[in-house]
Amino acid sequence: MILKEILQKYPKKDDQLIEILLDYQSAKSNHYISKEEIIEIADYLGIPESKVCSVLSFYTFFSVKPRGKHIIQVCKDVPCYVSSNIDILKIIETELGILVNETTPNQQFTLEFTSCLGCCDVGPVMRINDKIYTHLTADKIKAILSEYRVNM
Ligand code: FES
Repeated sequence: MILKEILQKYPKKDDQLIEILLDYQSAKSNHYISKEEIIEIADYLGIPESKVCSVLSFYTFFSVKPRGKHIIQVCKDVPCYVSSNIDILKIIETELGILVNETTPNQQFTLEFTSCLGCCDVGPVMRINDKIYTHLTADKIKAILSEYRVNM
C-alpha cells in the first residue's frame, strides 16, 4: 500500500502521527520508514520533520532502515536478563548467522533488541513480528525459528 493511501485514512492532526507510522510501516514489506516518507508524513500533518524523526527514534518498534520479513526483538531489560540462564541473543545470532541490528541475506529475518515488552513475569521474552514468546530456552528458540523458516 502506498503512503498516500495510508495518509488519506487519517485526519491531518499531529496526534495521528504514531498511528500513521505504525500503519504504514506494517504495510511495507521491508518494515521501515524512509527519509522521503518522513518528509511526506510531516508535510501531510503540518509538523516539522524533526518531530517525526524523534518519534521514530524513541520507539524501538520503528525503523529507519530496511528490515527483513520477520523482525525478532529480544528483550534486554533487567527482569528478563536475570530470569535467563542462557544467552538468548547469542543463540539467535548463531542460528541465523547475523548479529543484532542485522538482516539475513535472504531478507527473511532482522534481529533487534527491545525494551520491556510488559510480560516480565514470564521471561525471558522475545517478540517475532506481533507475537510474543515467553519462558525461552535454547531448544524453544531453535524450534520457534524452525517454524518461521518452514513458513518463509
Ligand atoms: S523485562 Fe523483558 S518483558 Fe519486561
